[in-house]
Amino acid sequence: CGIVGYVGPQSALDVVMAGLKRLEYRGYDSAGVAVLADGGLATAKRAGKLVNLDKELSEHPLPAAVTGIGHTRWATHGGPTDANAHPHLDNAGRVAVVHNGIIENFAPLRAELAERGHALGSETDTEVVAHLLAEEYSACADPAEAMRRVCRRLEGAFTLVAVHADAPDVVVGARRNSPLVVGVGEGEYFLASDVAAFIAHTRDAVELGQDQVVELRRDGVRVTGFDGAPADVRSYHVDWDASAAEKAGYASFMLKEIAEQPKAVADTLLGRIDGSGTLSLDEVRIPPGVLREVDKVVVVACGTAFHAGLIAKYAIEHWTRIPCEVELASEFRYRDPILDQQTLVVAISQSGETMDTLMALRHAREQGARVLAICNTNGSTIPRESDAVLYTHAGPEVAVASTKAFLTQLVACYLVALYLGQVRGTKYGDEIRDVVRDLSGISGAVEQVLGTMDPVRELARSLAHKNTVLFLGRHVGHPVALEGALKLKELAYMHAEGFAAGELKHGPIALIEEDLPVVVVVPSPRGRSVLHDKIVSNIQEIRARGARTIVIAEEGDEAVAPYADHLVRVPATPTLLQPLVATVPLQVFACELATARGNEVDQPRNLAKSVTVE
Ligand code: G6P
Repeated sequence: CGIVGYVGPQSALDVVMAGLKRLEYRGYDSAGVAVLADGGLATAKRAGKLVNLDKELSEHPLPAAVTGIGHTRWATHGGPTDANAHPHLDNAGRVAVVHNGIIENFAPLRAELAERGHALGSETDTEVVAHLLAEEYSACADPAEAMRRVCRRLEGAFTLVAVHADAPDVVVGARRNSPLVVGVGEGEYFLASDVAAFIAHTRDAVELGQDQVVELRRDGVRVTGFDGAPADVRSYHVDWDASAAEKAGYASFMLKEIAEQPKAVADTLLGRIDGSGTLSLDEVRIPPGVLREVDKVVVVACGTAFHAGLIAKYAIEHWTRIPCEVELASEFRYRDPILDQQTLVVAISQSGETMDTLMALRHAREQGARVLAICNTNGSTIPRESDAVLYTHAGPEVAVASTKAFLTQLVACYLVALYLGQVRGTKYGDEIRDVVRDLSGISGAVEQVLGTMDPVRELARSLAHKNTVLFLGRHVGHPVALEGALKLKELAYMHAEGFAAGELKHGPIALIEEDLPVVVVVPSPRGRSVLHDKIVSNIQEIRARGARTIVIAEEGDEAVAPYADHLVRVPATPTLLQPLVATVPLQVFACELATARGNEVDQPRNLAKSVTVE
């Protein structure tokens, strides 16, 4: 969910609504606002996307106000209805609260409140907080103290922002787990889940830590722990501006982000490799001595980041000779994994907020493992709780389906693998220099792919009526196939599956029927040519059974051409790096197909960009 709060001279409603617009990627099942005006509280909320709330506000305007809060929701407790939308109020309508996360002990708290005569109207855990805040405020008449008292009673992961009609120029927030950032302006303060919400007003931010409460007034900000003790906070200056969070003429954020990939890749390599082929990753703060002792690497991630992890395994094992496991973060801690001080856990996350990944890394650290985060969001929870972090420099990614962040995650994984190889001496100078040189040419190769996508778009449009598309790949092409299928599910709502090409004969081939589109990611014919030849046989096998073959193959690979109904060329790269170019046509394919089917590519149904609940 996305949260915004504002105190200052501007129209609170305008600031909050503009902020919510920027946070809609975090959830768009329903949205709501509350402002403090004329000694009371005025609210509006609507199920569905923010436009519904906008419409409601133009039909039934709220009074002018300088203090307000807002929320855009991804439903957990209770369906996405008007009543369940945030903010939630107490019975007297004096307290309004918005919330991200889950309050685990809401059932006993709710029962307790009902016993004391409170009437709760929604099915959400959030409403309980509004009632508790009202009770505590009546006892202490201090909004921040009331929030602290309530937080001490709550279990689970939550971030809360609230206002009270009796304190008309105060917004209070509390953070446990999902982020909350203060924007510091002149005589005005902002509170949001992400700096994108207030970047149009200020680039100066203060990040709240775990279990902290913040009080925003027009003359300043005060941060304490849940216990009331003054807290240390981190101030920082955001190094991108409002234009980075805008579509800049593209029809969608996704198209813009696909186009930004050459730059994202180059920025992620910048300062870490140089033209002479040297690799320097001093920012990885795990001492070389510790890295030399590592005897197992475990990568944990979700969704697209998990696919980056699957590819990382090939690079890590090949370049370092350390065994590497890759696991869905949501499965990891529940199977009692074997971890110790010699285990390096790599947690990959664009947002740095995904709850499953966070829980996996906490479990790993409890068992004594070191955790290295690969993350795109400065200061988010996952890097904060890790032993070290390697940031990807993709810039803000707004479209729900990940594109540029994925490519930069791959780059970061390659860098980590090479660095481990260098530190441990499994890869020596010249070999590392060769790969580093190959990596420095990748941004140009991605650019080249992007320049040749018209036939892919045309093909996608011609397949808009299909129900199923299959994806096949082998070696690093297998995770690429999985990612191609995931993109199509997320965006086009089509049945799409990725398979290891070698498994074809063990089941998936039964799915092949006349004119079924099958995308095949073909490895380079150089080097590991055995794999190449095997996949060419697979293409022949499915084509003989009627499949329409869409073949992604490197330039100069003539052996596949006779069996390709559609041939998509990508520049030649070393085998391990091929995912950086082979994924791009699959992103374009999914984006175009979704558009042809009339879907909204930036905000696919039922999804959210950051899933901050388990
Ligand atoms: C959600 C998004 C995916 C993303 C996944 C992991 O499911 O819709 O696009 O890959 O979360 O997100 P993270 O921020 O941890 O990379």
